[in-house]
Amino acid sequence: MSHVTIVGTQWGDEGKGKVVDWLSERADLVARFQGGHNAGHTLVIEGVTYALSLLPSGVVRKGKQSLIGNGVVFDPWAFFEEVGRVADKGISVTPENLKISDAATLILPLHTALDQAREARRGKEKIGTTGRGIGPAYEDKVGRRALRTGDLKDPDLLRSRLALLYDHYEILAKGLDIRLPEFDELAAELDALGARLTPYLVPAWKVLDEAHAQNQRILFEGAQGAMLDIDHGTYPFVTSSNTQAANAGLGTGFGAAKQAHVLGITKAYTTRVGSGPFPTEDEGEDGQKLAKVGHEFGVVTGRPRRCGWFDVVMVRQALKVGGVDSIALTKLDVLDGFETLKICVGYKLQGETIDYFPSNAEDQEKVEPIYETLPGWPETTAGCQKMEDLPAAAQAYVARLETLIDVPASLVSTSPKREDTILRIDPFGEL
Ligand code: GDP
Ligand code: IMO
Ligand code: MG
Repeated sequence: MSHVTIVGTQWGDEGKGKVVDWLSERADLVARFQGGHNAGHTLVIEGVTYALSLLPSGVVRKGKQSLIGNGVVFDPWAFFEEVGRVADKGISVTPENLKISDAATLILPLHTALDQAREARRGKEKIGTTGRGIGPAYEDKVGRRALRTGDLKDPDLLRSRLALLYDHYEILAKGLDIRLPEFDELAAELDALGARLTPYLVPAWKVLDEAHAQNQRILFEGAQGAMLDIDHGTYPFVTSSNTQAANAGLGTGFGAAKQAHVLGITKAYTTRVGSGPFPTEDEGEDGQKLAKVGHEFGVVTGRPRRCGWFDVVMVRQALKVGGVDSIALTKLDVLDGFETLKICVGYKLQGETIDYFPSNAEDQEKVEPIYETLPGWPETTAGCQKMEDLPAAAQAYVARLETLIDVPASLVSTSPKREDTILRIDPFGEL
């Protein structure tokens, strides 16, 4: 019996959506446990591209269950909008195939307004958030004043909770010069959304407990990546949740998640959206080539992603902190045609060599990468479905990364398409 938890090991956008979709063929249930509609997960199936934000990537497969856990921050407007968007592509999301925790924190329009107002005030110091209200919603959760999905079932309870929240936000709104929605209008809108949402609401832990008891395979789908983790990432340039696999259990109420195989999705180079340190960023021709060939534009905001070389120090640290058992190495094909490839194997910080990524943003900005250079390959790997079909230099690149990060690559991905995936070790099987 085994479950798999999928997490990003860099700054997000590693290809989690593609790998979750691919692995979900052999799973019974796919569960999201943190983040919200700041995520943008891309799936390419039989020529059709699906960009999912809040919905677990399992919804595209018929006969599979999906679940949104309590650890997710849930915007009901964004949810119904996304359900409509995927319906246009023939995907039906119903209370039968998707369950939503009744204890998930709600994102309200006032969170989105606050997120955007704060970013505007920070000016050059902005975090570069997705502007979706993620941070303010998690703040209210920890501040014990948030509304939760289950509160939408009871109009009186909803109004009393909303009144407490308004008490807090009226003060903020005055200071920041933002307009709050009319209380009665918002409450009425939430009543209507609640009526539509109630059939989806469940105690998430119970659904997972029953699935586990029936020997079903559960796939936990993380959003963002290790370096965006609120504790272990490039703070303060991070998201507001724990993105690591250890949060899969807490974010769904499934204690047995600790037994899951942790699969770290890892891009064969590095990208980042938004502000913050990025030691191996390449702002020259190579970086531009990676961006162009890799189509590195954000799914959610359309912003260009910053690009650079593979950072062994950072990924190795992410794997150790996150307890990652194996990686899925994605976008290897984007490296096709480079004469040489650089990988960062250490840092110089104020004249000293270090083998770890420092904790504070100031030092993270200062570190200078020490590079090892590997030969590239002129052949194309795009669409390769067998390890032995990869050129020798591409096989050597994968092997060198495995040695340096000390974790095997159980999957290698060579195109956005579902089928262009090489399986080397089954994450659902025994390690
Ligand atoms: P996620 O947020 O981790 O799910 O990743 P995104 O979907 O935001 O970004 C990954 C992008 O790379 C998407 O456009 C995918 O279709 C694409 N992609 C995934 N795997 C591969 C691959 O192996 N090769 C190439 N060329 N593109 C890939
Ligand atoms: P997926 O799941 C890449 C980044 C934002 C910003 C920071 C904080 O597709 O990998 P937030 O709106 O969360 O408060 O923004 O985190 N960010 C992501 N970057 N991929 C994501 O998700 C991201 N979700 C948030 O760009 O730097
Ligand atoms: Mg993404």
